[in-house]
Amino acid sequence: ASPISLRHLAAQRNFAIGVAVNATPLRKDPLYRDLLAREFNALIPENSMKFQNIHPERDRYDFSDSDEIVTFARKHGMKVIAHAPIWFHQLPRWVTESHFSREELLAIMKDHIQKILSHYRGQVLAWDVVNEPLNSDGSLRESIWFKTIGPEYIDLAFQWAKEADPDALLYINDYAEGLNSKSDGMYDLVKGMLERGIPVDGVGFQSHIGFLSANDPEEVNKNMKRLQELGLEVLITEMDVPITALKGADREEKLAEQARLYGAFLDVCLENSNCNNFLMWGLTDAHSWLQGFTGGKAPMIFDRSYQPKPAYDRMVEVFEKS
Ligand code: G3I
Repeated sequence: ASPISLRHLAAQRNFAIGVAVNATPLRKDPLYRDLLAREFNALIPENSMKFQNIHPERDRYDFSDSDEIVTFARKHGMKVIAHAPIWFHQLPRWVTESHFSREELLAIMKDHIQKILSHYRGQVLAWDVVNEPLNSDGSLRESIWFKTIGPEYIDLAFQWAKEADPDALLYINDYAEGLNSKSDGMYDLVKGMLERGIPVDGVGFQSHIGFLSANDPEEVNKNMKRLQELGLEVLITEMDVPITALKGADREEKLAEQARLYGAFLDVCLENSNCNNFLMWGLTDAHSWLQGFTGGKAPMIFDRSYQPKPAYDRMVEVFEKS
């Protein structure tokens, strides 16, 4: 085995490098487990901790998949960024179809946050407490939480999260990486939270390049810096780079452009002292939410045969020169 791994390079600078994982390949695929443990010192559950998965019925929580992931991480000395208790999407029918009153939904939200955060208390580094709260114009998205509870659902979620796990870092996560009305909305949101004494530690930059996100590393850099001025951490939480979104005459050129983008985002993160976590949204091209749509997106840094792509080599170079 090569002595060089992203994990080794990251550890030297007290940096977390990781990917999103699911329980099924973790259980079934030894190559998946080996590559994860060799290359990464952090992970984020892609789906297992979402509301629908972890809390499928009002009086039933299901921690089986997420426990498997957290146990794996602990066994291999990997940090866990936990994702994402309060989101508009992936809610079970018992939540979306019951027409709960404000008081009922507040009680449900509090129970949900407190049960899952206390279950993993001391075992995870951080939580994406609230995911994707914003519209593209920077206003708050009209999720069931917003519509039933009001804009204060975000403050309450963070306060209840803090009570349930006082040592976990608490993040807000969205695709608002560049400089635009959405990231201005995020800036105003977290600034207001801090002014109100709400325990928010950082902002996740999802970084789904080409599909949902801005892809200008210089804008990302500036956005990281203005959040640092508020005293906040930032992290890259869900990076992927489908080559179909990239310029290039052929596959080779697109893979080079993909490598450039992964390298540039890593570089920006390493350069900003408030960015200490870099997570990608899948391990290999066979384990990406994008691979099901059409073939050929090849968004990750390992190919379908678990071999490193030019983007992997580029990330190694960026670590080595930083
Ligand atoms: O597990 C069931 C399976 O039992 C069933 O047969 C199948 C039929 O549709 O669905 C499977 O669940 C799917 C699940 O992924 C696992 O593959 C869901 O339908 C599908 O909606 C779900 O998609 C996930 C999506 O979030 C919605 O939760 C993607 O994997 C996941 O990558 C994506 O992740 C999000 C982040 O959480 C937030 N930011 C954007 C990012 C990409 O959309």
